[in-house]
Amino acid sequence: MNITKQNQIYEGKAKKVFATNNPAYYIVEYKDDATAFNGLKKGTITGKGVINNRMSNIMFRLMEKNGIHTHFVEELSDRETVVRAVKIVPLEIIIRNVAAGSFSKRYGVEEGRELLSPTLEFSLKDDALNDPLINDSHIIALGVASEQELESIRNMAFKVNDVMKEFFAGIGIKLIDFKIEAGRLPNGEIILADEISPDTCRFWDAKTNEKLDKDRFRRDLGNVEEAYHEIFKRISNA
Ligand code: TMP
Repeated sequence: MNITKQNQIYEGKAKKVFATNNPAYYIVEYKDDATAFNGLKKGTITGKGVINNRMSNIMFRLMEKNGIHTHFVEELSDRETVVRAVKIVPLEIIIRNVAAGSFSKRYGVEEGRELLSPTLEFSLKDDALNDPLINDSHIIALGVASEQELESIRNMAFKVNDVMKEFFAGIGIKLIDFKIEAGRLPNGEIILADEISPDTCRFWDAKTNEKLDKDRFRRDLGNVEEAYHEIFKRISNA
């Protein structure tokens, strides 16, 4: 495949997206920039871009093996990957297995409490509004996604959870929660897009409950780079 980078079409908090010589593909480039609380807290996690690129690609390959279609095409370099050009559905799709973060705060549940079943929630991706929670009925009424798309998104999210939970259990990690994004192909198909990394998941060591994800940065817990390396090492050795 001979895909070459053209003009930058988007810059997010953690990635840049470039057009290519083929309209069916984009190139994403992962940065070391880290933000939290909708950009209020800013920093750098050295080497994060490389780990998130490589780890996401390993996770996307794992999803494909399990019948989940993703935007992944080809890893180009440490930080760059060719992906299928999709329109991102402006939703943060969040699955939780264990209470933590905003869920614990909102419902007054201690972090670490196992949920009786995995939960799914949506936030509207809109920085100006601070990514508000949104329900299925709102999503359809506002035309963010159709009922049929929502059904595909729900099925995809729970399937991703099943595959990830099993994979991470095998490397001594509890998958607490994660966020994914869905993309629309020109033919209308919904596929898994964005990234799967310590930026977008909560990973706790199964034995010690040590946090091995971006919460170390959000909460100033120290050893941020070490946590990203530890997760990547375990995944690479799996
Ligand atoms: P939360 O508990 O802060 O709502 O986060 C739930 C999950 O979503 C957690 O794994 C971190 C991830 N997440 C993102 O990927 N991007 C975000 O902007 C936020 C707020 C959370």
